[in-house]
Amino acid sequence: MIAKLTLCVFLCFISLVVAQETYPEYSYPSVFSEPGRDLLIAGKFPADFIWGSATSAYQIEGGWQEDDKGLSIWDTFSHNGRIYNNQNGDVACDSYHKYEEDVALLKNLGVSYYRFSISWPRVLPNGTVDYIDEAGIEYYNNLITSLLDNGVEPMVTLYHWDLPQFLQDEYGGWESDELVDIFNDYADLMFERFGEKVKYWITFNEPYVVCWLGYGINVFAPGIYDPGAAPYRAAHTIIKAHAKAYHTYKQKYSSYGGKLSITLSTDFGIPEDPNKPEDVAAAERYMQFTAGWFAHAIFKNGDYPDTMKWQVGNKSMAQGFEESRLPEFTEEEKDEIKGTYDFFGLNSYTSTVCRAEVDTGTEPNYEGDQDMQRYQPDEWPTSTSSWLRPVPWGLRGLLNWVKNEYNNPDIFITENGVSTALDSGTEDEERVTFYRAYINEVLKAIEQDNVKVKGYFAWSLMDNFEWTSGYSQRFGLHYVDFDDNDRPRTVKTSAQWFKDLIAYNGFEEGYSAGNLVQQNFVICILSSVLITLFVSLRL
Ligand code: GAL
Repeated sequence: MIAKLTLCVFLCFISLVVAQETYPEYSYPSVFSEPGRDLLIAGKFPADFIWGSATSAYQIEGGWQEDDKGLSIWDTFSHNGRIYNNQNGDVACDSYHKYEEDVALLKNLGVSYYRFSISWPRVLPNGTVDYIDEAGIEYYNNLITSLLDNGVEPMVTLYHWDLPQFLQDEYGGWESDELVDIFNDYADLMFERFGEKVKYWITFNEPYVVCWLGYGINVFAPGIYDPGAAPYRAAHTIIKAHAKAYHTYKQKYSSYGGKLSITLSTDFGIPEDPNKPEDVAAAERYMQFTAGWFAHAIFKNGDYPDTMKWQVGNKSMAQGFEESRLPEFTEEEKDEIKGTYDFFGLNSYTSTVCRAEVDTGTEPNYEGDQDMQRYQPDEWPTSTSSWLRPVPWGLRGLLNWVKNEYNNPDIFITENGVSTALDSGTEDEERVTFYRAYINEVLKAIEQDNVKVKGYFAWSLMDNFEWTSGYSQRFGLHYVDFDDNDRPRTVKTSAQWFKDLIAYNGFEEGYSAGNLVQQNFVICILSSVLITLFVSLRL
């Protein structure tokens, strides 16, 4: 009897081990496998959750000299040899001619929204309403009509980095206050022409990147190096331009019933030592200098975060400036800026670890102003982009930070995604792993933390011109062959996975570790009963 029982227990143990080994991968690569944090949950997104995919004009359109289109600062920048392998966006994915194929891809995915941007110099060649290129307007009209005919709603970004070159040359771009009115005229015209059909508008995409990479460190167009002052000046103009366009929409076009906001980007700042108050404060400073730089004024009180005012003010004084390098808003401007949003547009790809460290440099510098060092630990997984290490749980942390900081706004994740290498093909399992883990964190944020995430846009619909990396990094759900003049698009494994996710509107039971444990428990019990029966009959 004892022998029989021992045998049964042993066989049960074996069946348990076998059952455990049948677990599919359910968490991100081993480094992210903290039970309770990284396990996937099963569940559906709210019925009205918006699924979409995103692109931007310069990255996909091509047609850089089509009709009367003016030059943008990215045309100039890329023609000045500033891009990997001397590449440029002259043709890109040729969406200017192939937009109907793009619409077909969207329809096949089953997304209900497409986020794209308007190329400002395509509709206003020198950036002002003095001359409208009707052919450019026609292009967007056709695109929008085709989208709607195919059941896809447009979400339109007005500024995804391609400033008309004329405005850079004539006024100094975003450093000039005159761009507030010039941008407002452009926005007004777009609302007038497309407002009836477009219900979601985004004024600016990632102003932090525009200001720091474009005006601070000469990494992106327009290629200005002035790390201590120009970024603050550019941001000041952009915030005012956003607010003015918001009021224009509400005053003149509210009958269209659309929603308007701005899309901000930040990594999630994690304190190096969460038990060290200095590191906690450093991570918070990082968040305030990136997202808060714009969000504090727009989503809170019309003004910059206190920590920015304090840091930049003190540093400026120590550096001998008569006033802070961070400009000030007038009381009237503050009133005009605060509350100019209908939702929070959030782009995020990765996280960063922050450590308090007083900056000892003497050169005025936006990063030095933060008295903080940051890095990404070596053990975090990598991608083809050096800056992008997948940290799925960081997105959940960031969503909670936005919720708590800005009084629980509706949030749209307007970009999230990962790069794979130039020679990566259509079987992009890494991208599936990334999306599965990241989107599951969004579900946790909604279900477990009550964050009001209303939509998710995958970056990107297709491989495209990845700024200074040219075509060397692929972010697409669809593969684009850039060696073929026709720029054919092919469905990738990730597109099929995203399509299934959208069709189910969430994660089916089989994905859930919790449910797998239950399933395996049931398998285990059943096999134990069978084994016991078998053994009792035989022995
Ligand atoms: C974002 C940007 C996109 C895209 C993406 C991937 O910052 O808005 O245009 O390039 O990064 O790098």
